[in-house]
Amino acid sequence: MQEVANLTAATAEEAENLRIKYLSKKGIINDLMGEFRTVPAELKKEVGMKINELKQATQEKITALKDMAQSQEQAGDDLDLTRTPYPIKLGTRHPLTIVKNEIVDIFSRLGFTLAEGPEVEDDWHVYSSMNFADDHPARDMQDTFFIEAHPDIILRSHTSSVQARTMELQKPPIRALCPGRVYRNEAISARAHCFFHQVEGLYVDKSVSFTDLKQVLLLFAQEMFGPDTKIRLRPSYFPFTEPSAEMDISCHLCGGKGCSFCKHTGWVEILGCGMVDPAVLEANGIDSKEYTGYAFGMGIERITNLKYQVKDLRMFSENDKRFLDEFTAAN
Ligand code: PHE
Repeated sequence: MQEVANLTAATAEEAENLRIKYLSKKGIINDLMGEFRTVPAELKKEVGMKINELKQATQEKITALKDMAQSQEQAGDDLDLTRTPYPIKLGTRHPLTIVKNEIVDIFSRLGFTLAEGPEVEDDWHVYSSMNFADDHPARDMQDTFFIEAHPDIILRSHTSSVQARTMELQKPPIRALCPGRVYRNEAISARAHCFFHQVEGLYVDKSVSFTDLKQVLLLFAQEMFGPDTKIRLRPSYFPFTEPSAEMDISCHLCGGKGCSFCKHTGWVEILGCGMVDPAVLEANGIDSKEYTGYAFGMGIERITNLKYQVKDLRMFSENDKRFLDEFTAAN
């Protein structure tokens, strides 16, 4: 009995061999049956029962071994390498990346090439070379993150620093587009964050005019928000451009008629721009008598909000899968 309980078989074939050994006509159990004749009559009943028990146990054990070995072999057979796989769900691009790529794509078609600069910058590239006076309020702790113990090293508060880096390295004509992250010391809320993203554009060449700027921005607005989009420039001030302007587009939700999104004005602001101040050209080693230029800068979050009506800026950095999954189709 113990011998039967300890039987093992790795394959169905091994189990079959066991069957032959124990249960076939010439098997061990049949031999026992043969010897049954010699058992004295008074023991026949008991021995007969024992042999039957043994036979049944052996049959059960060998059938179980066979089943197990067969099902293991079949599991291997089920591995069909030609079967169509279950589709693996792909991730989505971040909405800010989708919009940045779109902006870059539009300006690339106009001959702008990408330029980069560091996020940890020095005061010169962020402010001084951009014509900020020493006491300009933007340098204040309110706005700028300073690296402790290094008052000259800061987190850039705008991508205009990449204008300076580009002019330093390249001779005109320059046509550069600089997307990147910027930092400002602001309380985090639905409408403000301590970091966000901008795209800066810079064009420096002989006789670049405000008309060129306006034409490029109109084309951008219509490519981004649709061919019926109108633009409007309002005079503004930036230390690094003169004259400076802020650009509005006709509200693409109500078509300019006025709605709660555009606060019933029909217009929404999307960027700052202007002619590069000659002092900036000079500070960066470009002869302002020979060359002129224009620059513009926009917040990628703002453009994304306009396109997709994201109500809360914090959504962009919270990594909420439900929010990110909404952009699967826009990929
Ligand atoms: N740097 C400006 C800002 O952060 C935007 C800007 C860029 C304005 C280039 C004019 C020209 O608000």
